[in-house]
Amino acid sequence: MKHIIVEGGHKLAGTIHVSGAKNAVLPLIAAAMLPAGVSYIEETPWLTDVENMCEVLDYLGVSTEYKDGTLRIDATELADSNAPFEAVQKMRASFLVMGPLLARLGRARIPLPGGCAIGARPIDLHLKGFEAMGAGITISDNYIEARVNTLHGARIYLDFPSVGATENIMMAAALAEGNTVIENAAKEPEIVDLANLLNAMGGKVRGAGTDVVRISGVPELHPAVHTVIPDRIEAGSFMLMAAVTGSELFLENVITSHLQPIMAKMQDAGVRIIDEIDRLHILPADRFDPVEIKTMPYPGFPTDMQAQFMAFLTLANGTSTVTETVFENRFMHVPELCRMGAQISVHGNTAIVNGVPKLKGTCVEATDLRAGAAMIVAGLAAEGRTVIGQVDHIYRGYEDIIGKLRAVGAHIYEE
Ligand code: EPZ
Repeated sequence: MKHIIVEGGHKLAGTIHVSGAKNAVLPLIAAAMLPAGVSYIEETPWLTDVENMCEVLDYLGVSTEYKDGTLRIDATELADSNAPFEAVQKMRASFLVMGPLLARLGRARIPLPGGCAIGARPIDLHLKGFEAMGAGITISDNYIEARVNTLHGARIYLDFPSVGATENIMMAAALAEGNTVIENAAKEPEIVDLANLLNAMGGKVRGAGTDVVRISGVPELHPAVHTVIPDRIEAGSFMLMAAVTGSELFLENVITSHLQPIMAKMQDAGVRIIDEIDRLHILPADRFDPVEIKTMPYPGFPTDMQAQFMAFLTLANGTSTVTETVFENRFMHVPELCRMGAQISVHGNTAIVNGVPKLKGTCVEATDLRAGAAMIVAGLAAEGRTVIGQVDHIYRGYEDIIGKLRAVGAHIYEE
């Protein structure tokens, strides 16, 4: 088993280039299935989640090729509508191929995506959208089958602003007959990035980034070249690593408007951040104030930053509260942080974090992707060595995280 070893107590210095966003590129890859032709996605981060998504597309007859940061996707032939069991089980985001398969072929057969450590991860809102557009859905022996002659536009209200459901429905609606309106849609920047690609392909998507997205179906889409937006969660994770080690750090390839919810909370805690337009400048500071965090759909504080921010707050000058409202089980990093000397108690979906003067390195587990990043935040600040297990979770969402951190002085390596 691989481990990541972090020697704490060393300051960082220099500039980190933020990669393309994992949660943008996965739906973009699915959308590239819609036109019969070759699309290119630039600034694609080479992550295990991206490899898994390409594996699913290859299985469906869509060839993919990654070279120098650009992913070439040839969807001329969409041979099959049967997504592979293993690949879907490995990564629930592969369920995003359902919209394109329905739109292109009128059928899809996909294994029920597993839940994961952070929650049941249902797909009822995705299916509600597809049924509203005319698809017949059956679920048997752990597979979902969807069939439709022609998808038609519909008005769909999402009970929760689900990111994946918004994306899946947008992709299906792009080639449907008529107009679709998604109400209570997710407003994340990744939704806007997907809409920009669909429109570049000749689609007609309006309102992405607001809670009402309107899609006018077109008979066909053409291939496009698109650059992925920077990863706001990777950027936020590095900002916390700088803050918690009292370092001065620069981040390039950021869209600061996407980082507002994260920057606001960090500034409330006393982190000094200068927006230098095409890069962020984090200034060194020694002690930080406690804050109240409540995760919400965008533009609220992102759930994907909750674990990392909690790791930062374990060393704040007082008591913080962290409330998780998006997923039902996203506190598995709490016992790991407590093993390092953090003082955290969980009451329902709220964690009370009493700041301590220091953390001590020890053996911990990356229980999920963002909890793994939280272990690195804590390990960089802790006294001594932190040995992180289950590191494959981390590689799902952080491109070359060891190389990037070593280049700015972190004592971190894999063994
Ligand atoms: C996306 O997951 C992200 N993943 C997640 O990032 C992120 O945490 C999440 O959005 C919320 O921002 C990708 O984009 C690949 P949701 P997704 O549908 O689409 C409930 C990371 O660490 N729900 O917005 O699966 C669901 O149970 C990952 O990078 C339904 O009830 O998230 C959850 O409580 C983790 N029915 C809430 O909505 C549905 O049909 C948010 O889920 C769908 C979702």
